[in-house]
Amino acid sequence: MAGAAMDIATRVVRWQAAHGRHHLPWQQTRDPYRVWLSEIMLQQTQVSTVLDYYPRFLQRFPDVAALAAAPLDDVLALWSGLGYYSRARNLHRCAQQVVAVHGGVFPATAEVLATLPGIGRSTAGAIAAFCFSQRVPILDANVRRVLTRVLAFGEDLAAARNERQLWAHAHDLLPVDDLDEAMPRYTQGLMDLGAGWCLPRKPRCDLCPLGEVCAARRAGDPEKYPVRTRKLRRSAQSWWLLLRRNAAGAVWLERRPMNGIWAGLYCPPVFDSAAALAWAEGVSGVRHLPAFQHVLTHMDLHLHPVLVPGDVGMLPAQGGWYGPSDWPALGLPAPVRKLLEGL
Ligand code: ADE
Repeated sequence: MAGAAMDIATRVVRWQAAHGRHHLPWQQTRDPYRVWLSEIMLQQTQVSTVLDYYPRFLQRFPDVAALAAAPLDDVLALWSGLGYYSRARNLHRCAQQVVAVHGGVFPATAEVLATLPGIGRSTAGAIAAFCFSQRVPILDANVRRVLTRVLAFGEDLAAARNERQLWAHAHDLLPVDDLDEAMPRYTQGLMDLGAGWCLPRKPRCDLCPLGEVCAARRAGDPEKYPVRTRKLRRSAQSWWLLLRRNAAGAVWLERRPMNGIWAGLYCPPVFDSAAALAWAEGVSGVRHLPAFQHVLTHMDLHLHPVLVPGDVGMLPAQGGWYGPSDWPALGLPAPVRKLLEGL
């Protein structure tokens, strides 16, 4: 392969061999303990800091058995200054699990590695590619930037579906030949490109081995990628549902407004405070049904159904009595339908 026809994996592998980083201490081994430790340290800490901590940690805990046997306090003490201490606690738990569940030997596939504490899908991929040349992708923040740009992948990564799609693309781009050498090189090469070339601002596209095949560069807008909207904050509301049931077994339902939650659907009258209950308490035979939660896209609804017998009290101007034979054809929100059918 030559020129623009050369595939992405081949470009990255060749470039890594000629221009990537080769002298980092965790690159001098395929021991999964050492690689795992480096990947956990590098998750939220820059290389220059890890270069300082990594050898000290290994000196005190030379293998997974030593780490597993140590008191947590000793691990935390050596971690001191690296921050994100949940990493250290997970590290310790992970070592103990490797010893207890896997006989002291790190699992050799990303799939099993990802079952261990503190090892997410990308870290599992990195360990499996570096140590076992498994053909699995990584997708940390740097690599996500490289790949979304090369592919001009503009879907919003806040949505799990799009994130899954990007993982699938990352898998499709993996090397196919000579995996024993290519997988570690390719994996390191993507990390190196993300760290030094495909920068968040002012990427160095002129010097990038993927410059010729990068869709975002061709379109002139690499900084647009990756696309991730801020996750919408979930909110919560509590609703009291007044279920008036008459002697014929019909329930009073009214149509919801045409906008907002359950727009246009039929629903028992909704009260947004317990004040409605204060009124119902005066009626004999009121029954508080168990409260339950209903999850909407951006909101959790806490529903408090209150069953009131008969057509007592004021009836709202809008709405009507609907019996069980009406319910199947009526537009009812799923939790309301379940509620009515359970009466
Ligand atoms: N960041 C995460 N993993 C890394 C690695 N193996 N080398 C350099 N930086 C990294």
